[in-house]
Amino acid sequence: MNRDPICMKNDMLKTLYSKQDLETTVARLGREITEDYRGKTPVMVAVLRGAFIFMADLVRAIDIPCTVDFMVVSSYGKGTTSSGSVKIIKDLDTNIEGKDVIIVEDILDSGITLSNLIRVLNQRHPASIRICTLFDKPARHKVDIKVDYNGLEVPDEFIVGYGLDYAEIYRNYPEIAVLKPEVYGD
Ligand code: IMP
Ligand code: MG
Repeated sequence: MNRDPICMKNDMLKTLYSKQDLETTVARLGREITEDYRGKTPVMVAVLRGAFIFMADLVRAIDIPCTVDFMVVSSYGKGTTSSGSVKIIKDLDTNIEGKDVIIVEDILDSGITLSNLIRVLNQRHPASIRICTLFDKPARHKVDIKVDYNGLEVPDEFIVGYGLDYAEIYRNYPEIAVLKPEVYGD
């Protein structure tokens, strides 16, 4: 990979969303969840690793009590095409039976990860499950999935930053950017 080891910014082609855009969006999502869940204590379930920064900011934008838990799932097996099944690599520690669950995802791409995850979690008989995703790439949807709390739309481009990676790096880049084409090369 042809990347700059000193400065991440040199690897970026353009910024899609600034820190301010992200802050405004997370605040809005937090307000929506706060209004809808008054009197309840939802279980916020972040899908790692991509959602870790979003989750940290989102829960602080929610003004009602909630609990947090984390999952690691893999939908794709070894290849890059979707297998349609979800492999749980790290499961919840929380028993979600009878609980109001909000799944917190970084980005809705094909939707396969989320639709499989919803199916698995529904088998545990939660009171409700809703989806909160920071980014949505409508051009890439392969399955029909209803998102309850939707942040920002992104074009059909691979984005990094604010938790999202390319080859496990750039998660700590504080805004959302598209990499220079040469960075994707090997
Ligand atoms: P899906 O099952 O195709 O919806 O996969 C969604 C997952 O793929 C996300 O949770 C991300 O981890 C990853 N992903 C999809 N698009 C991007 C992108 O543009 N940048 C970084 N990760 C992405
Ligand atoms: Mg992810």
